[in-house]
Amino acid sequence: MKRYVVAITGASGAVFALRLIESLVVVAEVHLVISSAAIPIIAYETGLDLTGDTHGEGSRVERLGRHFNTERLFYYADDCLHCPLSSGSFITDGMYVVPCSMKTLSGIANGYADNLIIRAADVVIKQGRPLVLSPREMPFSAIHLENMLRLARLGVVIAPPVPAFYSHPRDLNGIVDFVTGKLLDSMSIPHNLFKRWDGQ
Ligand SMILES: Cc1cc2nc3c(=O)[nH]c(=O)nc-3n(C[C@H](O)[C@H](O)[C@H](O)COP(=O)(O)O)c2cc1C
Repeated sequence: MKRYVVAITGASGAVFALRLIESLVVVAEVHLVISSAAIPIIAYETGLDLTGDTHGEGSRVERLGRHFNTERLFYYADDCLHCPLSSGSFITDGMYVVPCSMKTLSGIANGYADNLIIRAADVVIKQGRPLVLSPREMPFSAIHLENMLRLARLGVVIAPPVPAFYSHPRDLNGIVDFVTGKLLDSMSIPHNLFKRWDGQ
């Protein structure tokens, strides 16, 4: 069974991460880290309230279990620098950061691994494993673009949540499916989230 790390940071667009996790847990183990900045934004944007304690009754882990099939979902707090994802000896097939804030982008680009998300990305880069970032900001500054270029030159996939319209999305859901499908494509993970352009 494949094993992916998924990190959600405090940029807008957690809905893409939730759709990604729903798709991944069907076919793979998902090791999830959510930054502390992301928790209230996820609640505000999606209604998924993960505030409160990490474990125990009514906790973040229990609430994730109401939303996802948690058989293959493993959750870590972003300050857990001794967790398995901090080490290259924990084998994974790659990592997603969706959405990726400009702060986390900068941390990854500069190797400033002061939380589990940035450390896990640092590990994935040093081990030569696939890393897909979905940076969300508008507009991008030269600092943001330079950080992205630096990572792209290392082979990191920079996949911002930009929709296309050739798949004729009917609603927001269609746009979320398209972007999520493109994220899955970045790791060659099969899906049926959108109709592919067939040349017609
Ligand atoms: C409602 C809301 C939306 C935000 N959206 C973005 C965003 O789209 N991109 C971004 O880089 N930062 C955004 N931020 C700021 C980040 O949350 C902030 O920089 C935070 O420190 C990121 O920390 P993290 O990368 O550890 O999650 C947003 C903040 C709030 C409150």
